[in-house]
Amino acid sequence: MSRERRLPLVLALAAAVVGVLAVASPRAEAELQVGFYNATCPIAEGVVFAEMHAILHEDPTLAPSLLRMHYHDCFVQGCDGSIMLRSRRGTAERDATPNRSMRGYDAIERIKARLETLCPLTVSCADIIAMAARDAVYLSKGPWYGVETGRRDGNVTVAEYAENDLAPPDSNIVDVKTFFSVKSLTAKDIVVLFGSHSIGTSHCEAFRKRLYNFTGAMDQDPSLDARYARQLRKLCPRRGGGRGRRAKVPMDPGSGFTFDLSYYRHVLATGGLFQSDGSLLHDPATRGYVERMANASSPDEYYQDFAAAMVKMGRTDVLPDSLGEVRATCGVFVD
Ligand code: HEM
Repeated sequence: MSRERRLPLVLALAAAVVGVLAVASPRAEAELQVGFYNATCPIAEGVVFAEMHAILHEDPTLAPSLLRMHYHDCFVQGCDGSIMLRSRRGTAERDATPNRSMRGYDAIERIKARLETLCPLTVSCADIIAMAARDAVYLSKGPWYGVETGRRDGNVTVAEYAENDLAPPDSNIVDVKTFFSVKSLTAKDIVVLFGSHSIGTSHCEAFRKRLYNFTGAMDQDPSLDARYARQLRKLCPRRGGGRGRRAKVPMDPGSGFTFDLSYYRHVLATGGLFQSDGSLLHDPATRGYVERMANASSPDEYYQDFAAAMVKMGRTDVLPDSLGEVRATCGVFVD
């Protein structure tokens, strides 16, 4: 199946007429479904797609950030847009360590502002993040999939929850499975979702220890390919102060802007950038999948698996219709 055939014509048309049509009618039920806004804001997906197209044209590096944002939103109190909320006291999810490197908040706010002019108080921030993630994947030459919508926005944000619910990059496979199983995600979901690291970059902080002081004896992680480690040491000096603090490396070298299978080839050959990536090789089920995808001649099976896993992750602890809200601005201050 070609990628092109997966982008519904109706969406392409909707994107083309953004700003011309805006139809509002009473809210449908809050159960997640593809096309949840068909009755209340039929151009919602088209607006998001058109804005994402413009946003990524201006800054292609936001594609991976917005995909990552959906994961970080869903894993912390469910997919409820709470990652967008702000705190003057520095106690919001945004302020937590794993989110300090998060980018793309302004992009979500820009899409939200556009939607507010067309369908006021209708499309939730959590849904905008989910749609933006899907569009980011597609616009990075990845698959198109039907994204379920109908999420409500939460109004609680606690930095500690993000610290606790997002696995750190030095996690082993047992840790990773624990973090994902509490969100009802399986080993297959893990290995499939990790393929997201096929696009984007990482700051050196996330893996510097592997290069210089793995066990506390100024050593290097032996599971990291020696040649790859040498390259990483050049890009990430031992002391990460000053400009070095901002240094970044591609997570899938040579293919960092294209959503493809090369992440799996990279993990198999080098051990992956993070210990958590490399951990996929330490479990028979996840290793088998890495090997198969690394040697696959077509990404079709992976694209199908990825679509299914993203839809599943997107259902994590969504708020029932009776709870939550749809607010006009995603990043309001909660204190
Ligand atoms: C155990 C699970 C995971 C760990 C430990 C992890 C860790 C990380 C880290 C440390 C970074 C680099 C951030 C930076 O320094 O800027 C990163 C980037 C990224 N992650 Fe993950 N991740 C995990 C799972 C996922 C999942 C499930 C997804 C998507 C569904 C995802 C998507 C991404 C993307 C696309 C980037 C690139 C961001 C950018 O370029 O701005 N990650 N991840």
